[in-house]
Formats: sequence, C-alpha cells, structure tokens
Amino acid sequence: MNRTGTDRGLSAVIEYIDDSMAFEPSSYNESYLDRRISARMRRTDCSAYTGYLDVLSTDGDEREALLDALSINVTSFFRNPEVWERLRDVLRELTASKRTVQCWSAACADGREPYSIAMLARDDPEIREQSIEITATDIDAEILETARAGVYESTRTTDIESQLASLSSPAEHVDIDGDRSFSIRPSVKRMVSFEQHDLISGPRKRGYDLVLCRNLLIYIDRSYKEPIFEMLTSALNDRGFLTIGKSETLPHSFREHYEAYDRGAHIYRRD
Ligand SMILES: C[S@@+](CC[C@H](N)C(=O)[O-])C[C@H]1O[C@@H](n2cnc3c(N)ncnc32)[C@H](O)[C@@H]1O
Repeated sequence: MNRTGTDRGLSAVIEYIDDSMAFEPSSYNESYLDRRISARMRRTDCSAYTGYLDVLSTDGDEREALLDALSINVTSFFRNPEVWERLRDVLRELTASKRTVQCWSAACADGREPYSIAMLARDDPEIREQSIEITATDIDAEILETARAGVYESTRTTDIESQLASLSSPAEHVDIDGDRSFSIRPSVKRMVSFEQHDLISGPRKRGYDLVLCRNLLIYIDRSYKEPIFEMLTSALNDRGFLTIGKSETLPHSFREHYEAYDRGAHIYRRD
C-alpha cells in the first residue's frame, strides 16, 4: 500500500476508536497509536489497516484487547533506581524543613510509584515519614482499584522482589506470600490516597512540595503537553520539586519557572 493509503487506513482506525471505544485517541501522538495498533494487527494476522478495521468492528474481544494495548500503564516499584536515590535526598531535605510534606504521584498507574515513595520514607531513617502525605491520581478508574488493593504478582517478565531490592528490609513494607505475591502492608497503604483525575481536563490541584509525573508525557500529543505542565506547575508550592520521566523534557516555555535540581534524574525545582 502506498504511503497515502497507509495514512488513510490508520486514520480510519483512529476514527473508529474515537467514535466507538472508551478511549480518546486525540490526546496521544500518532506514532504511539500506530505502534499499539500495529502490534494488535500482528497478533491478529492483519497486514492492512482496512482488514483490521473489519476485525475490530465485528469482534468485541479484539476491541477489548486493543483497549488494553492502548492503556499505557506499564510501571514498576522504584522505576529508574538512580532517580529514586535523588528522590531520597529530596525527601530528606523536605521533611527536615517542613512539618507536612505533600506529595503527588500524577498518572500513578497501578500504584507502584506512590507506594515506592511511602516505602522509601518508612525505610530511610533520615526521612521523617510521619510528615509525608501522598496523593496518587490516574485517569483510569480500573487501574486505581488495583492500586488500592495493593497486591502485585511476579511473572516471567516482572520480578517484584528485585524491584524492591533497594529497601533495607522489604518484608517490613510488604507481606510476601510464597515468592510471587506481594501485598502492600496497611502501614504503607495508609500513607497514600488514590483518586481519579485527568491531567488534561481535570480540576487544578494546589499545595504540593513534590510532584512526580513520569512516563505519561512521552505518549501525549504535543498540543496537550502545555496544559499538563500548567496543571503540574500550578500544583507546586514555591521551591517545590517536579520529577518527570527519564526520556521526557520540560517544554521551553516552562524552563523559566524551574531550576534543575538534578538534570540527569529529571528533577526540577520551582523558582
Ligand atoms: C506508563 S504509566 C506511568 C506510571 C508511573 N508514573 C511510572 O512512571 O511508572 C502512564 C499512566 O498515565 C495514565 N494516564 C493517561 N492519560 C492520562 C491523563 N490524561 N490524566 C491522568 N493520567 C493519565 C494511564 O492511565 C497510565 O496509568
């Protein structure tokens, strides 16, 4: 198929998703959507978008599978451990100087990121964990249920035990059943409150000392990045910290609002 035909085919699939499925493709960049759609096409032996569109419109299971593939909720405990070493310093500094430290894990997926903050705070004697309050939000109501349940399984490709290896005593923070199932302990869960929130169109939030918004911006269409950064920037107190993902960048128009705390770890401080 020539390039124009391919583009038209992809546009037709995206239009179908927009009209008929519980997902808004307009916020995501096209190459991301194409990668996810193409992966499903390979799984269903479709070599052309038009053929895949036929499958989609007749097969409810495939619509479900595509929805799963589009919901980008890959995450882990202490994702990018070197970043967490710097966040350890940030939490030490904040809790040494403030009575209450408000943290926001924005786009928290299944909760492993906010639970990482809570476990780190409990694990490190130089972080005053009693002062830490964590809000964790995501657009996806279903994944927030998983987050609230706080039970995670090791699989062939996910080794939870190694994700928790930076903690001095993981067993104080999670109950380990066999060597596969890990349940977050109530003492850790108590530190985190989960709520559904859309970073593009949801209400503004305020009063945070540390905001983590990692690994969402890479998927988002450029035109939605500014509203998200406005949301994150207005949520931060003066001298508050913002952490974005390792392959994400601050848009130019926001650079004047921040100084780099650790450029390599993508941690910035509100000016
Ligand atoms: C790849 S996960 C990132 C998880 C975690 N922050 C990390 O870095 O491991 C991206 C999450 O963004 C959520 N998301 C997508 N669009 C969103 C939006 N407009 N507002 C809030 N969350 C969104 C998805 O539901 C998904 O759980």
